[in-house]
Parts: sequence; C-alpha cells; structure tokens
Amino acid sequence: ISLKAFNTFGIDKTARFFMVAKSVDELKKALHWAKSQKIKPLILGGGSNILLTQDQDALVIKIELEGIEVIKEDEETYHVAVGAGVNWHQFVMTSIANNWAGVENLSLIPGTVGASPMQNIGAYGVEIKDVFHSLKALNKETLDLEEFDAAQCQFGYRESVFKHDLKGKYVICSVVFCLRKKPDFHTEYGAIQETLEASGVNELSLKAISEAVIQIRQSKLPDPKEIGNAGSFFKNPTITTEQFEVLKNHYPAIPGFPNEEGIKVPAAWLIEQCGWKGQRFGEIGVHSKQPLVLVNYGDGDGNEIKKLAEKIQQSVAEKFDISIHPEVNFL
Ligand code: EPU
Repeated sequence: ISLKAFNTFGIDKTARFFMVAKSVDELKKALHWAKSQKIKPLILGGGSNILLTQDQDALVIKIELEGIEVIKEDEETYHVAVGAGVNWHQFVMTSIANNWAGVENLSLIPGTVGASPMQNIGAYGVEIKDVFHSLKALNKETLDLEEFDAAQCQFGYRESVFKHDLKGKYVICSVVFCLRKKPDFHTEYGAIQETLEASGVNELSLKAISEAVIQIRQSKLPDPKEIGNAGSFFKNPTITTEQFEVLKNHYPAIPGFPNEEGIKVPAAWLIEQCGWKGQRFGEIGVHSKQPLVLVNYGDGDGNEIKKLAEKIQQSVAEKFDISIHPEVNFL
C-alpha cells in the first residue's frame, strides 16, 4: 500500500505489509508475525519526522494506542499517562483545557505522543524532558513491556537513547508526563513576548501562551496538509566559542546562543546566508519563511530531497566550516 498519507512529507513510497495496532496485544501479535515471517517491522507514529527514500520491504505498523488518564495527583502535580498513538497537539489541547501546565509552549508540534521522547521534541524554550516522568516501551526481542525513567532515556537536544544505543529495539507504548498545577510560564523567547504584546494579552495563561505559539508557528512553518514537510530538517549546530569569534569577525550579524557545549548557531541563518531560502527545484524546495524546513510541493521524491539536503550541508560546510546534521530520520 502507498504510505503517502502516512508521512507528513507526502512521499509516495509503498509498504509491503501494513497494519494498525490499537492495543499492546495487537502490537505484540504483529511483531510476532513479522518475526515468524522474517519480515522487518517498521513502527510508524504520525510520520512527521521521516523521509521515505525507498519502498519499504517491511511490515509497517501504525501505532494507534489511545488514552489520556491522570494516574496520580499530589499537591503540586498531576501524573498523566498518555497512549503513544495520541496526537501530540490533541494532548496539549487536553492539558490546557484541564489546566495541566507544562506543555503549552509545545503547541502545534506535529506527530504523536509516542514519538515525542524519541527526539526529545522542543520549541520556544521547553523540551519534553522538562515534563517527562517515565515511559513504557515494548522490547521487540522479548515482547516484554519495560519502563524507562528520564535518566534511562538519556535525553539531549533532539536526542534520546532510542536514537542511539537502543535504536530500533523498542516500541514506545505510553508516556507519563508530570504536569504542574501552578504554571511556570516560559516567555523568554522574543517571538512569544512580541506576539503576546501584539495581541494585547496582559495576564499570562496557558491558553494565551498556547495561542501565541500557534500564531508564530502558523506564520512561518508550512502546514503539512498543504505543503509536505517534516518541520526542521536539520538540527542547530553547536560550535566552539573560538570558532564563533572567528566567524563573528567575518559575519558580524551571525546569531549565537551559548549553551553547555559552546555556542548554538541557528542552522536557518546559515542556510539563508548560503542563498537557499525560498529556492524551488521542481516539486521540492526550501521553505520561503523558514529555510530550516525542506518542502515537497506535491509529487516530490524522497531521494531528491535527500540530495538537496546534502547540497545544503555541503554549501554550509564550505562557507562557514560548520557541519549541520539532519534531524529527520531517513528510511
Ligand atoms: N533565522 C534566519 N532566517 C529565517 C528564520 C530564522 O536567519 O528565515 C534565524 C534567526 O536568527 C532566528 C533563528 O534562526 O532568530 C531561530 O529561528 P526560529 O526561532 O524559527 O527557531 P529555529 O532554531 O530555526 C528551532 C526548532 C524548531 C522550533 C523553534 C522554536 C530545531 C532543529 N528546530 O528552530 O523545531 O519550533 O526552534 O523554538 O531545534 C522542529 O524541530 O521540527 C521544529 C520546528
């Protein structure tokens, strides 16, 4: 079957076998069958962080484990268990409606809850690791459900153990978030402040922040329903302070944000400086409002996008001596 409807890039590649898992039992059965038939299982959430470059000789299993449930409550927090198949933004909207604080800055991120810890999704000063309590994942080998706490997930910037040592070994089935009763607003991002001011908000609320984030995202990120994309295609690189100083002499306007490892430079800026912003090549291109986002205008091919990504990486390396790396997973 075609996977076009199951990846936000809208790439038209096929799966040899396809099924939907609505329960952990169905998932176990599917994995068991794949093993007995010696067919590779491929787990799919919202399909919002993948680039399909070939037909999949696999059993593609779409995770549709549902449910949002408060499993524990104390004076300050709620522990909310959420099924891996729940749409991320739906979970954020439910949290805001219930006054559970902590995920409002993460409004409108595409994808599912199960995929969110994989790459420690983040936006506007908040990452999922800030509200993460634990998760349950199915071991593909033993078919046992195992629990992981935050330390075991080894979260980093767009990273977790599930992209490294445990890559391909587990299927995340549910995530427990620790959400606060009293909000701790994160408005340090300039764009959030400006948007709140422009809309005349004088009292902060979860809803006001969520609406500001939605407005910002809608103003510069393409809606996958209209133009295929997978959000940021590359991660923002961190370079040494020394290299940053040298670049600053050549390019006084270069933005940089200090972190523990050095200075984080927006890949969007580097890509724009190389002249890629808004460039279109037939059916694919670089988004005109956010050059970190590669787009498929309709009939684009995954390999063409991959080639374009490589060209962008090369030109950034040549101009700035900085390597940028994809955030998106190539399949
Ligand atoms: N910039 C440009 N030109 C542009 C756009 C941006 O030079 O056309 C530069 C500016 O200097 C700007 C800076 O890039 O200040 C940062 O831009 P933005 O705030 O849009 O954020 P980003 O670093 O490009 C990251 C995340 C996004 C997240 C935003 C907001 C990564 C890889 N991406 O983008 O996440 O929404 O911050 O917090 O870290 C995603 O991961 O899919 C994603 C969309």
